[in-house]
Amino acid sequence: MNIVVLPGDGIGPEVADVAVACLMAVAKARGLDLAFDHHDFGGIAIDRHGDPLPPATLAACKGADAILMGAVGGPKWDDAPRRPEQGLLALRSELGLFANLRPARIIPGLEHLSPLKPEIATGADVLVVRELIGGLYFGEKSLSDDDASDLCAYSRPEIERIAHIAFAAARARRGKLTSVDKANVLATSKLWRRVVTELSAQYPDVALDHLYVDAAAMAIVTSPTRFDVILTENLFGDILSDELSVIGGSIGLLGSSSSGAPGTPALFEPIHGSAPDIAGQNRANPGGMIASAALMLGHLGHGDEAALLTDALDATLLHGTRTSDLGGYSSCSDFGTAVLAELADALADRDRPSTQAAA
Ligand code: NAD
Ligand code: IPM
Ligand code: MN
Repeated sequence: MNIVVLPGDGIGPEVADVAVACLMAVAKARGLDLAFDHHDFGGIAIDRHGDPLPPATLAACKGADAILMGAVGGPKWDDAPRRPEQGLLALRSELGLFANLRPARIIPGLEHLSPLKPEIATGADVLVVRELIGGLYFGEKSLSDDDASDLCAYSRPEIERIAHIAFAAARARRGKLTSVDKANVLATSKLWRRVVTELSAQYPDVALDHLYVDAAAMAIVTSPTRFDVILTENLFGDILSDELSVIGGSIGLLGSSSSGAPGTPALFEPIHGSAPDIAGQNRANPGGMIASAALMLGHLGHGDEAALLTDALDATLLHGTRTSDLGGYSSCSDFGTAVLAELADALADRDRPSTQAAA
């Protein structure tokens, strides 16, 4: 398996290094053949090649089995003619990565890390299914000194394909889908609600409801456990997933997958940005990047290894190793070392004779 790694900017390379080390350990222990191929992307690619998504990086991504991305952007490039973020949008669009899945949950036993009261946060486990290559992000844009506009457009096929993903995800989870829109105001949302409602006839086992995005933003913090899967458009999904992420204690814990047509490479990245305020200080939480690596293993058909990595991440946090965003004192790299130790422990447990009953 050829994995293209795009460390990017700010804390991106710090968390990517940790995730690659974890993947190498899992691969070595379980005999997986993973090869890592690092490429410039984002601000660093602007500095080195004058382009946030150089042709060689795009070609490597297109030929990869999967892509692992850290984060891009930072104040240094905020006024660049093509910002690092535009490289990310171009990559998502070029690869047709329309389905962005962002799982957010509170790890049982870590309810005290949530800014919400434990009685509200306990049991929260939500999957955001975000449409990733349409809507306001990709509509026609204009900007002059006095006027600006961003067109928001969605077509029926664009809504249908992401809705199918969300219904199927709900079916595989707790059978509940909440579609979030602004159908009391926006034409795109009216079509969104109509198409999602029509498709629900194909999923009689999934309970569908609709919420306006403003009410959804409120419900996420007042009653997060009312949600199972949230389906929403690009911009709303961006905002609501950051909001949901802090229920577990920090945005630094959330990973994501972005995929397109079957058989094409998918991309795995934490939902956070390059965190310029802590970049270069070895303080970042690599949890979201490790969670993304686990999602990648699952996507590549290695579900067992994905669970191994997720369990090691959870155990690290539960045993008290935490970065400063979670009130702890661990560095980013020390956190990675602790995850590797949990992995080694779990693998040793598996190999102990008493656990080899099947053999
Ligand atoms: P951000 O997510 O980078 O940071 C927001 C806050 O969360 C900061 O206080 C930061 O320190 C903290 N934080 C984020 N990730 C963390 C982690 N892993 N561990 C500990 N703390 C963490 O958002 P921002 O500051 O609005 O954006 C910074 C830059 O990143 C901008 O250029 C933005 O466009 C870009 N960005 C990129 C991506 C991406 O590459 N996918 C995502 C979001 C933002
Ligand atoms: C994210 C980021 C990106 C987005 C930016 C950097 C373009 O915020 O992945 O959530 O808005 O999609
Ligand atoms: Mn975002």
